[in-house]
Amino acid sequence: MKMKILVLGGGGREHALIWAINQNPKCDEIFCAPGNAGINKIAEIANLNILKPDEIVNFCKTKHIDFVIIGPEAPLLAGVSDALKLENILTFGPSKASSMLEASKSFTKSICKLGKIPTAKSDTFYNLKSAAKYLESCDFPVVLKVDGLAAGKGVVIAESKKVALNTIKIMFGGKFGNVGKPILIEEFLHGEELSFFVLTDGKTILPIGSAQDHKRAFDNDTGPNTGGMGAYSPALILTTDLEKKIISKIIKPTVDTMNAQKLPFVGVLYAGLMIRNGEPTLIEYNVRFGDPECQVLMVRLGAQILDLLLDCAEQKLEQSKVNWANDSAISVVMAAKGYPESYAKGTVIKNIFSAEKVSGVEVFHAGTKNNNGQILAIGGRVLNITCKERNLALAHNKVYEAAALIDWDSGYYRKDIGWRGLK
Ligand code: AMP
Ligand code: GLY
Repeated sequence: MKMKILVLGGGGREHALIWAINQNPKCDEIFCAPGNAGINKIAEIANLNILKPDEIVNFCKTKHIDFVIIGPEAPLLAGVSDALKLENILTFGPSKASSMLEASKSFTKSICKLGKIPTAKSDTFYNLKSAAKYLESCDFPVVLKVDGLAAGKGVVIAESKKVALNTIKIMFGGKFGNVGKPILIEEFLHGEELSFFVLTDGKTILPIGSAQDHKRAFDNDTGPNTGGMGAYSPALILTTDLEKKIISKIIKPTVDTMNAQKLPFVGVLYAGLMIRNGEPTLIEYNVRFGDPECQVLMVRLGAQILDLLLDCAEQKLEQSKVNWANDSAISVVMAAKGYPESYAKGTVIKNIFSAEKVSGVEVFHAGTKNNNGQILAIGGRVLNITCKERNLALAHNKVYEAAALIDWDSGYYRKDIGWRGLK
């Protein structure tokens, strides 16, 4: 069957998804909203507000869209997936209710408790007074989290009581627009982080790859936290034994508990894990692909991702199988100087095409715009230089060879992406 597909989102994650889907012979036409300067070379841009379920439904009916893929969490929480499914439009993206696994950290803690899932010990507080009192008895560092979504800025690791007190004052002060919502005070976990991805239709759990992100802005994991400055896949730390433990102790009990709560989860479940002495502990869930983790997964999975997403949405994952090659991928994020704080917009990027000529390299766009043929940076994270090769060292060399060819004075990137895998 030839399909008309709509992808929602406009980051490097969606560019990579569209790049892979487009190679599948089932894909006839592909639309994207809002897209970016890279996406518009391979998909037709639809002028839609992706947070308006009615607008998306109407577009799908008018254009006879066969399949919708939702990239970011915001449209999921706006109810776009639910609205499309009500109209019998095949959709990849979990329900708003089950997306609470990402949107509310206290909800996830309650699922962990019900499912006996290993996670950091944590308590939830609704006011400054009780949180401050609790800090009196804590060992430091502690991890402070606002309950809801905060664009990656809602987590602070406080090294001392003084910093912790200041932080909870800010958190309860409304900076995150979360006034009245709780905060969590959590035990600090030691170990190595791992991102683990599965597709699930509520019955079958299908692992689709591992990755390690690099959250800090600068080399050697220094500087402020960002949305992610680069990723590589597969993660060296993931052994067969560890994967079995992650599925049996964390993923399966989560899927089962969500079913028992009548909140079946159907979509991609991205587990952020801490690994210590071969044992996994859940840090958090996301209900979407990671960005930039998606970019490394997509160059490894390629065209088959469309079949897998379709099987997941149609709830027939039981019959699916991932065909893996023995390869590695790496993605380096180019960001605007100043990101994750303030940065200039509208600066010109040149020579992307030279980077794209390096064999095995794909340049995925994030915050870019095409202005009469000139590529302008309009976001914080702007390009993702991505390479798949037969081993990580080769992918690393080529990705940095390609990155050096791009001419953008107002941008920066980390030079050490993948160091854990290369060591
Ligand atoms: P989250 O938004 O929950 O993924 O938190 C963002 C980052 O903060 C994680 O990727 C970890 O690096 C760090 N983090 C969150 N919770 C903990 C914890 N309990 N212990 C140690 N680090 C944590
Ligand atoms: N790279 C982290 C995330 O997508 O949440």
